[in-house]
Amino acid sequence: MSVQVVRQLRAAMSDGRLVAGERLPSSRALAGALKVSRTVVTEAYEQLYAEGWLEGRHGSGTFVSDVSAVPRPVERAAAPAPPERKGIDLRPGVPWVGALDTPAWRRAWRLAATVERVNRPDPGGLPGLRAALAEHVRRGRGVACSADRVLVTRGATNGLDMLAATVLRPGDRVGVEDPGYNGAKAVLAGRGLELVPCPVDEHGLVVDALPDDLRLVYTTPSHQYPLGGVLPVPRRQALLAWARRTGALVAEDDYDGEFRYDVAPLPALYGLDPEVVVYLGTTSKILTSDVGVGWLVARPDLVAAVAARRRLLNDRTAVVPQEAMRLLLERGDLDRYLRRMRAEYARRRAVVAQALAGLPLRGDTAGLHVVLAVPDAERVAAEAAANGVLVDTLTRHHAGPCTMSGLVIGYGSAATHSELRAGCAVIRHVARP
Ligand SMILES: Cc1ncc(COP(=O)(O)O)c(C=O)c1O
Repeated sequence: MSVQVVRQLRAAMSDGRLVAGERLPSSRALAGALKVSRTVVTEAYEQLYAEGWLEGRHGSGTFVSDVSAVPRPVERAAAPAPPERKGIDLRPGVPWVGALDTPAWRRAWRLAATVERVNRPDPGGLPGLRAALAEHVRRGRGVACSADRVLVTRGATNGLDMLAATVLRPGDRVGVEDPGYNGAKAVLAGRGLELVPCPVDEHGLVVDALPDDLRLVYTTPSHQYPLGGVLPVPRRQALLAWARRTGALVAEDDYDGEFRYDVAPLPALYGLDPEVVVYLGTTSKILTSDVGVGWLVARPDLVAAVAARRRLLNDRTAVVPQEAMRLLLERGDLDRYLRRMRAEYARRRAVVAQALAGLPLRGDTAGLHVVLAVPDAERVAAEAAANGVLVDTLTRHHAGPCTMSGLVIGYGSAATHSELRAGCAVIRHVARP
């Protein structure tokens, strides 16, 4: 039902029946006029907010945005109706891409395709993109760096892989968060390194427990994956002191650091000590993983070493996605999209918090997933799956013995808020002891 309201409002804004600056009726008034429930209208408004058609002015209502400045979504008229018992996928790691296909997005890719052909592109990345990324991490993540400290990768995991292959030797001991991101463990193990599981609590990595003989520790301080803790400042300082003392590198995976909700994000760890930290960023959460662009920020000697190895192997990040990313950054389109997504994920997070109110939710101040602590997570996940709702469990993310039981619930992949709400209702039902 809300789909129809969205469609009608979009059409009215497209053909000028509703113009920029015009105030829309309250959700209650419109629901009354259309004889639909208020939820239907609220969801329609939320969708149009997320797509950039609407904007709210604090305390004064809902207004039509200046659509000439707003990317317009393509109406996917040909999309088939979902099957009756379509599953609801609430597994983590997937961003919402429903508002991605905008004119700004398509313009960036169209222009990117005309980029001048380069026979052997710089393995560090396109100079313009490196500069734009330096500015992006400076403004968004408190990382002051020059372009020569930025190397364009194919993603955070790829950056970690290249770093490990360049600076470590098979048999070196490397710390990984436990529970932690399996992709990181896979690339480090794939380089013949000895993985040392390092404990994590609700605040993130337990720094005091780090052994002294690690050559590198991989960590997700902005939003620990999967538990969701934000590493407190004293632990950040202790981690950097440990790294300076032992000579280890800290690989900071900032995979979703752009999304923080109730308080301002802590700046990236890298900013506190650019000598020992290697910062890994990615488009996989802020846009979509199929862009295949990420960035590694590190000391110039490390950047040069990774670039030299890439040159030797004739390895590179494809130039067209790099150019598209540069355009999105330079024109401010990525910032606009991020603002919209932050608002959208905040609403999704509120849906989850409301639907699971009273249950022990963890790690919900940032990112695109939460953890629901339940003693028998495998049983709950299996029953949820039997009822058409897919979630992840913490078990899968442990390298050592499983110390915590819980569900990992992503709120990026659900197509709509109703779907998210319905999925959470199933979880709530099956999670009852
Ligand atoms: C902690 C973490 N890091 C990195 C990634 C993926 O990043 P990329 O696609 O850039 O390798 C994910 C994806 O789910 C993740 O959970």
